[in-house]
Amino acid sequence: MDKKRIIVTGGAGYIGSHTCVELINAGYTPIIIDNFFNSERFIVDRIEQITGLRPDLIEVDCTDYSGLMTLLKGYKGIEGIIHFAAYKAVGESTQKPVDYYYNNIASTTALLKLMNILGFNNFVFSSSCTVYGQPDELPVTENSPIKTAESPYGRTKQMCEDVMKDYQKANQDQKVVSLRYFNPIGAHSSSLIGELPRGVPNNLVPYITQTAAGLRDHLTVFGDDYDTPDGTCIRDYIHVVDLAKAHVAAIEYLIRQKNGIYNVFNLGTGRGNSVLEVIRTFEEVAGLKLNYKIGPRRSGDIVKVYADVAKANKDLEWETELDLKDALRDAWSWERSLKEN
Ligand code: UFG
Repeated sequence: MDKKRIIVTGGAGYIGSHTCVELINAGYTPIIIDNFFNSERFIVDRIEQITGLRPDLIEVDCTDYSGLMTLLKGYKGIEGIIHFAAYKAVGESTQKPVDYYYNNIASTTALLKLMNILGFNNFVFSSSCTVYGQPDELPVTENSPIKTAESPYGRTKQMCEDVMKDYQKANQDQKVVSLRYFNPIGAHSSSLIGELPRGVPNNLVPYITQTAAGLRDHLTVFGDDYDTPDGTCIRDYIHVVDLAKAHVAAIEYLIRQKNGIYNVFNLGTGRGNSVLEVIRTFEEVAGLKLNYKIGPRRSGDIVKVYADVAKANKDLEWETELDLKDALRDAWSWERSLKEN
């Protein structure tokens, strides 16, 4: 019997590659669409190495509607689309807002349009907890108000959610979910795939592992005078493999729906950890002391955010299985494997 195919845009990227592995583990065949703008070709080989199945690969830019149409027209048995491909650097988005609006919105609209014309259904979108800004109440539920975005990047996520909502309203048979990620960290336990930041990492965990590996002199903790127990910011760090499994659960949730639907889900662990807690836990699992200094606050940082994941637990029939220690251990193994290669 033919395996069910799922299009994974950005399938060679960080969360996309882990999702391809989990889709294959669950019996699906991913079709990766990637332009390798911010990802590496060897990741596709690594997915095959982990799973024994080589995903199909279509090299095209997701903003290229006619290119996508030509390449996808002939495909049979497509069960859904998971759309990861996007620009994602918060700081860069303030320098290049139009690039961010164009790339992130044109790709989403092109895929929705194409899905409708080619008669696929089941669209899963990568959104972010950034849509909530600094929430008034914690943990954050999906009903928390959407705040003014802190960056053009955040605004693209809010705009895409609006686009999907309007699309689904006008196409009532369509099934669409938006997944609002908290902070994805870690790597596959095989150390064959993981995060590959280009240049100086913006995010905490790759900065920590690169510092421990000697690629950076020290980590700067952005502020220790916040209104939190140890003065540093609090986030909900979710293992990328748990996050990847949530995408399989989201596809299966959509397939189960008899009628069209638009729904949103928080994906986190439900627990908050401070920057200093992450550092201490890393030192414990890696068995070393991390060189870090306390520096000034980073502008635009949210003080405290963590998810209420009850809705995802119930409707997606999904729960996290890994914790902060697992994620930091796997991130460290991945960093060391990069040094060896
Ligand atoms: N941090 C440091 N030093 C660093 C890097 C980060 O102290 O060198 C701190 C930050 O100040 C923050 C925490 O570590 O308190 C996490 O920072 P990240 O940059 O790893 O993650 P953010 O929560 O700022 O950003 C993430 C995603 C964005 C998304 C945002 C939503 O990377 O894509 O969550 O809140 F928009």
